[in-house]
Parts: sequence; structure tokens; C-alpha cells
Amino acid sequence: MEKFQLVCKSCGQITKDMSVWFANGQKCSSCGGKFVNVKYKAKASKIKELIDANKGNSVFDYFDFLPLKDKANIVTSGEGVIPVQHWTFLDQYAKEKFGVDCKVNVYRNDMNPGTGTFKDIAASVAASVLKENGVKQFAIASTGNIASAFSYYLAKAGISLAVFIPQDSLMSNEAEISSYGQKVFRVKGDYAAAKKIAADYAEKHNILISGGNIDPMRVEAKKTMVFEWLRQMDEFPTVYIQALSGGTGPIAIDKAIEDTKELSLVKQYPRYIMVQPDKCNPMTLGWEKAKANNFPDGWLTDYPIIDAPVTKVPTLATGNPATFPIIAELVHKSGGEMVTFDEDKMIDVARLVAYKKQVRIGPASTIGLGGFFQSLKQGFIKNGDVVMINLGEGVRRAPEFMEEMIYTTEHVSDVSECNPHQIENYEKQLFEAIEK
Ligand SMILES: Cc1ncc(COP(=O)(O)O)c(C=O)c1O
Ligand SMILES: [Zn+2]
Repeated sequence: MEKFQLVCKSCGQITKDMSVWFANGQKCSSCGGKFVNVKYKAKASKIKELIDANKGNSVFDYFDFLPLKDKANIVTSGEGVIPVQHWTFLDQYAKEKFGVDCKVNVYRNDMNPGTGTFKDIAASVAASVLKENGVKQFAIASTGNIASAFSYYLAKAGISLAVFIPQDSLMSNEAEISSYGQKVFRVKGDYAAAKKIAADYAEKHNILISGGNIDPMRVEAKKTMVFEWLRQMDEFPTVYIQALSGGTGPIAIDKAIEDTKELSLVKQYPRYIMVQPDKCNPMTLGWEKAKANNFPDGWLTDYPIIDAPVTKVPTLATGNPATFPIIAELVHKSGGEMVTFDEDKMIDVARLVAYKKQVRIGPASTIGLGGFFQSLKQGFIKNGDVVMINLGEGVRRAPEFMEEMIYTTEHVSDVSECNPHQIENYEKQLFEAIEK
């Protein structure tokens, strides 16, 4: 083995490196499997050394455990070393309203310097790997944020990208992709339709296409969030909450824990609590049905498909969740849950966070954080839990949503109508809006 190799999860066949992986059409040459495990030559103890070295430069601080051979090919803006913050107002809320003693942390992906979402690390690693392997053209289908991030980082690497977005994608996403000079194909149809045309385009022009949620470039990048938690936290999370579209998070966390297994840095897998918006929640529906029936044989392939979902969070609009068998199994193994959050309350969550923390989060983040409130209601957070909420994006992702944040305005024409206000008076109303 040189620096790393790819081991097929289905049959164990070894692919020597990324160039062979790309030449084989991003599949195992023996069984055609697309889900691989990247194994590294470096000893696991090296991870501990890198964590302790505490550089805080970028995701590439973990270079020895990324599928890239030469540091000269790194494409970075300093993403992936974002802060973990302990938001004590959420601890207090859990204690006061539900009698639950827990610590609630958030992972500030909105602070990623590329495009301000948790897709930046995946895109910076992918851009670097593609550059190293001489790739000049790439294609991707995306509900939005992955598209923006890949557009940014591939432009930085000088690689041409064709992006296929669904009909309902946000204009701001389209504008961002376009502004970096990458090509937008807005597909008349939903995300499933965009994926189909992207795949046909890639085949027709013999262009590489992103491997989706199990793409080893993405999984290897995202696993570094676990290394960052180990670097920044005294206690490892017992619960991980994320807004769910396709579900790269749990796959990546599992991989990181596997990479560090012999070091026993992580004593226990966090319980994965995955959150979907109520207008597009096929995975949660599949999960709830299976749970009600005690997880019968075949439950992993029994989930509904929502055609052309209409949701306020296009980022999370995966109506046909092909990764359900993988994600649901991980959630089940971890003792976790899948929940739904009401889209009508998204703006209330965003206002509360801006008021309490002066942080303006984006739509998909309100679903993740909303999932914490929902989990409290459903009894899924326990005494002693250390909760990690993945705040996936800031509000700059969605200018329309930003405008909805307005709630304190009074329209006036005379100074007699303008009375001083008390900021603390808003607090009760903000919490109550979420509890309704
Ligand atoms: C901010 C944000 N949160 C959550 C998700 C869902 O991620 P996944 O596809 O890994 O489920 C996305 C996907 O685009 C996202 O952009
Ligand atoms: Zn195989």
C-alpha cells in the first residue's frame, strides 16, 4: 500500500488509489459496489498526534488521513476547523421545561470560509483529489449547497463543473454557482430528475460525476469533524443531531470512529437523531413505520417515495432517499431516532437563535436545531447527554429567509409614535412561538 487504498465494503476487493477508482468508473472492479472503506498506511496513533498538534488551519491538518498524496495539490480556504460552541441557553431550556440535565453544543458550519455550509470540507477535499488526478471536467446533481461548495472549490482548482439543480432550487444557489463561472443546468423536475439527467450527461460525455453521499472523497472529508470534536471538546457527544437529506453525517462519523478504534478515544457511538422537514420526510416516515412494527424483516427497504416534494427547504428535498438502507441501519445501531420538524416553525427557531446568540442561521440549520426541540418533546434526550447539533448553514444561503426574520418593525410617520423598547420583552414570545 502507498499512502492509502480503497477496500470494497461488499467483497473486500482492493482499489489501489483514486486514479484507478476514477478509471473504473468509481466502482469496485470485482462486484461493482460503490461503497468503499478508505484504509491508510499511517498508524492510528498519528491521528492523536495530529489532534494534539492543534494547528487549526484547515481540514488538511488531517492530511495523513485524507485520500490525497501530494500536499502541493491542496485546494483550501481554511475550512473545516470551525468552532464547537456550548449554547447554555439550550441546557437551561431542557432543564426548565423538560427536567432534562444535558449539555448542548453546536458545530458552527455557518462559519466555514468557502460558502458557509458544512459542504465546504467535502468540496475542498474533492477539488484537491480531482486536481491531483488531472480531472478537468466534473458533474454533479445537487439540491443546492453541495452545488455552491463544489462550484467554489472546483473553480479555485481550475476545474470545469456542470451542476444539475432541481426546478425549485433557490435563486441564490443558482447565482452563486453561476458567479464562479460554473455551468448551471436547471432541470424541469425534482432532485431525482436532476440526478437522472446528470448521470446521462456524465455518461454521454465521459465526464466524472460526484458519487453522492457515499463518495469516498466526501466521507473522508466529513469524518474530520469527529477529529475536530476530539480536539475541541472534553467530553465526546452522546447525541448527534443533523438535518437529513441524503445523510452523509452518520456515515462519516462511523468512519472516523473506525479509524480511531484502537485508540479508544471514543467510548461509545453517539445516538444519531436525524431530522426531516414535514413537507419532505420520507426517511422519517419509513423509520416510524418500522419502529411501530418492531423493525420487521425487510424494513430497511420499506420507505415511501415523495415525488416532487414541495418544501421551504429545497436543500433537504430528497424525496427518493436511496440511502435509507444505509442511514436507517446506522441510526438503529446507534440507538438513535428519526424525527420530523414543522416547517411553519423554522422562522421562529431562526429568530430565537439570532436573539439569544446573535447568530443568523439558515433554513436547513433551523430544521436541525428544531429537531433538538422536537427530541425533547418526544423524550429522546436523556439526563447526562452531551448533545452536538450540526448547524449546517448560515442565513446568507437564503436571502428570502433573511427577510422573514423581521418581527420588530413598526411603521411610523411621527416621532410621537416611537417609544423606546425593552429587548428582554421579546424573549417569552420567541420561546412560546416554538412551543405552540
Ligand atoms: C445545511 C445542510 N444541512 C443538512 C444537509 C443534509 O445533508 P445530507 O445530504 O448529508 O443529509 C444539507 C445538504 O445539502 C445541508 O446543506
Ligand atoms: Zn466489491
